[in-house]
Amino acid sequence: MDKQTARQMVHSAMLAPSSHNSQPWRFRLHENAIELFADRSRALPVNDPEDRELHISCGCALMNMRLAAAKAGIGLKVELLPQPDNPDLLAKVVQSAPEEEQPLLAQLADEIPSRHTVRSDYEPVSDAGDLISDLRQWARLEGVQLTAVSSEVQRQRIAGLVAQADQTLWSDPAWRRELARWMLPPNRGEGLAVSALWSPFVRTMIRWFNLGSLMARKSTKLVDRAPLLLVLSSCGDGPRQWLETGQALQTVLLGCCQRGYQGSFLNQPVQVPTLRNRLSKITGLASPQILLRVGRPVEKPIASPRRALSGMLDPVSNR
Ligand SMILES: Cc1cc2nc3c(=O)[nH]c(=O)nc-3n(C[C@H](O)[C@H](O)[C@H](O)COP(=O)(O)O)c2cc1C
Repeated sequence: MDKQTARQMVHSAMLAPSSHNSQPWRFRLHENAIELFADRSRALPVNDPEDRELHISCGCALMNMRLAAAKAGIGLKVELLPQPDNPDLLAKVVQSAPEEEQPLLAQLADEIPSRHTVRSDYEPVSDAGDLISDLRQWARLEGVQLTAVSSEVQRQRIAGLVAQADQTLWSDPAWRRELARWMLPPNRGEGLAVSALWSPFVRTMIRWFNLGSLMARKSTKLVDRAPLLLVLSSCGDGPRQWLETGQALQTVLLGCCQRGYQGSFLNQPVQVPTLRNRLSKITGLASPQILLRVGRPVEKPIASPRRALSGMLDPVSNR
């Protein structure tokens, strides 16, 4: 692949979603390959002690690279965790013959810049049967199961779990300190953007006050009103399955964008082991990984900041 295509692939990768917008990835460019590494200096040890979400975020970035390559007419051989003695090397993509589903992947690539996490309200949806079956297919291609919560009883039980998870997470001062550290002004190019004026105030509030009850009430409303509530679950629960989940998540989110939908995360119960077990029982899914609220946003989505690409490239990149 030429230098410009390699750079375009990495540029697409960095537009992927990541927990707390931590962008926990690094790239090493070779003549005909790109290596994706975990940047564990950007890990979230309290929120994500096993680096599960870190792998999912990097899986999203990997999928964006694959999509950008498809758009450039390049096929890729993708190896997940290619060096067992180097767990930081998450994936290697090597140029190869074009894939069969390349035209479909290329179409999704067009949506990469328009995907955003939209945490505000969504319009009600009357019939999303086709969308759900398309999204299910995208997830299945990566070996991941997508389930739409359809029963009202299930929805209410999940709302209860999300609210309980908010209370649990916010009651932990270490969790709040970690979140506060990632509330940053947009010019930092990372983190959950708050205006430069407000960021010191917001950080102090989060650090010192347990806002669990407030957040729980807000989350309950979000689950109640979510036009679509989707669960992504994997078969197994380790780094490989997390990378697969990330790739599936990214195609699902971009598939949503193709139809004017966006998504946002209600992952709190997956982050608390006892509540994750209960989510598993409620949904009948062995390893739930991601809980998503999906719909057509009422307001125009806003792009979140990103770090400069140069800071994500490994110094030994030979391009
Ligand atoms: C694995 C994963 C978990 C996430 N969990 C949450 C979450 O619990 N709550 C939330 O509001 N956003 C969550 N996000 C969304 C990120 O905060 C968001 O991707 C990041 O701020 C960048 O914004 P963007 O998606 O608009 O590009 C998550 C994203 C990923 C990939």
